[in-house]
Amino acid sequence: AKRNLILAFESSCDETSVAVIEDGHKILSNIIATQIDSHKRFGGVVPEVASRHHIEQVTRCLNEALEEANVTYDDLTAVAVTYGPGLVGSLLVGVTAAKAVAWAHQLPLIPVNHMAGHIYAARFVSEFHFPQMALLVSGGHTEIVYIEDEYHFQILGETRDDAAGEAYDKIGRVLGVTYPAGKVIDDWAHEGNDTYHFPRAMEKENNFDFSFSGLKSAFINTVHNAEQRDDELNKYDLASSFQQSVVDVLAEKVMRALDQYPVDQLILAGGVAANAGLRDRLERDIETLHPQTTLIKAPLKLCGDNAAMIGAAGYVAYNHHILADMDLNAVPGLEL
Ligand code: KG4
Ligand code: ZN
Repeated sequence: AKRNLILAFESSCDETSVAVIEDGHKILSNIIATQIDSHKRFGGVVPEVASRHHIEQVTRCLNEALEEANVTYDDLTAVAVTYGPGLVGSLLVGVTAAKAVAWAHQLPLIPVNHMAGHIYAARFVSEFHFPQMALLVSGGHTEIVYIEDEYHFQILGETRDDAAGEAYDKIGRVLGVTYPAGKVIDDWAHEGNDTYHFPRAMEKENNFDFSFSGLKSAFINTVHNAEQRDDELNKYDLASSFQQSVVDVLAEKVMRALDQYPVDQLILAGGVAANAGLRDRLERDIETLHPQTTLIKAPLKLCGDNAAMIGAAGYVAYNHHILADMDLNAVPGLEL
């Protein structure tokens, strides 16, 4: 049989990425150009800077993706692209590039939700069995998703303020860690202990929502008060206490969601899914509390934004005849 080859574009935030995916789960190439260095000195992503970078990188990424996969446009089955959620100017670069390729080579165009993409990063480590649940934790989102059947997403709960990754980045800044701070705080957390006992917002509430802004404020107040009193602060204990609080609420809420919605598989995905503390904790909790459910952690390399995950989701969308035409537009606030 002819190979299904999907060319995928991702440009929703600060990563320009183009990939070629074979039959939905084999990565032939996954080129990622990160702009982190350009945003570092601003402490976060600057939308105008991001759009310009995407424009500068997208053609190079495209050419490298095709070359590394050793395929030509004639070999392709379809083109997939992230059309939301994300920064509108950034999204538009990927959408425009994907449309240009689809139009020039008469290929079907597959619109992909970025968060569906994060879920399908897990498809590279395991086949999917339904029903599923996904814990999606990234710089922009924190949500628990119930997936009754393939590509049928239902959000059970989400953050009411900051996303988990955003909280990491904000408290990192207070400790002088450059953007994005998640990995450094995660590493420090393993050198310290939960001595500060920060709040665990909404942990005991009977819903699947989250809130991280109170934790962020408690953290910032602790640091400022200590500085005013000239008290010694232990950054490892601070990181550890913060992380313990985040991991506690995430794990506790997901385990409670699983009580109510039993599933075959729990997927952990999104940038914060790279967190070692979170990965370990979910592994332990699943084993003791929900042994019938299999935890599928997105591979470390595919937790952050990349086009391979968009290609994997795009393959499934294509099989479900989810297609777009040339008037496809970016949708910054797109929901699952
Ligand atoms: O999914 P992603 O690459 O971009 C968005 O779609 O938002 O997620 C980026 C976020 C950043 O906030 C970053 O600090 C966080 O993921 N992150 C981590 C870790 N690695 C990246 N947070 C906690 N622990 C980590 N090891
Ligand atoms: Zn993302």
